[in-house]
Amino acid sequence: MTRRTTALSAVALAAALALSGCSTSSADDGPKLDVSGAFMPQPVMNMAGGFLTIKNTGGAADKLTSVTSPLSDDVQIHETKNQKMQQVKSFDIPANGELNLERGGNHIMFMNIKQKPVQGDKVSIQLHFEKSEPITVELPVEAPNHNPQKH
Ligand code: CU
Repeated sequence: MTRRTTALSAVALAAALALSGCSTSSADDGPKLDVSGAFMPQPVMNMAGGFLTIKNTGGAADKLTSVTSPLSDDVQIHETKNQKMQQVKSFDIPANGELNLERGGNHIMFMNIKQKPVQGDKVSIQLHFEKSEPITVELPVEAPNHNPQKH
């Protein structure tokens, strides 16, 4: 009988630990970012565009505030309005939402690129956020007209 009680309390303890582990991570209300679908169309001029999706599964919003890369000393973030693009200070990444950087819309813009990467190359960038730690992403260079469909 004593043995059985001990075994049961060990199970209860394990369950309690698992539960507290679970509630610890969900009690952490910061943004939780995940980058996907990143690419750079092969540049045809001395500037290049970068596209990706940042998904936020956390309970708090964040902002993409800047992008850095060895390819350019002047990496900007642009929005497109009425087919004209203009530099912005940041992009919102809503809680439980996502930021889409896609062709014809918001994008990363590499000014005065130091060399022209070609299809098959990879370009390293670092994304900087208001709250989250920076995220390093390798952008595969795709054909100049590459434009994947997103759902
Ligand atoms: Cu632009």
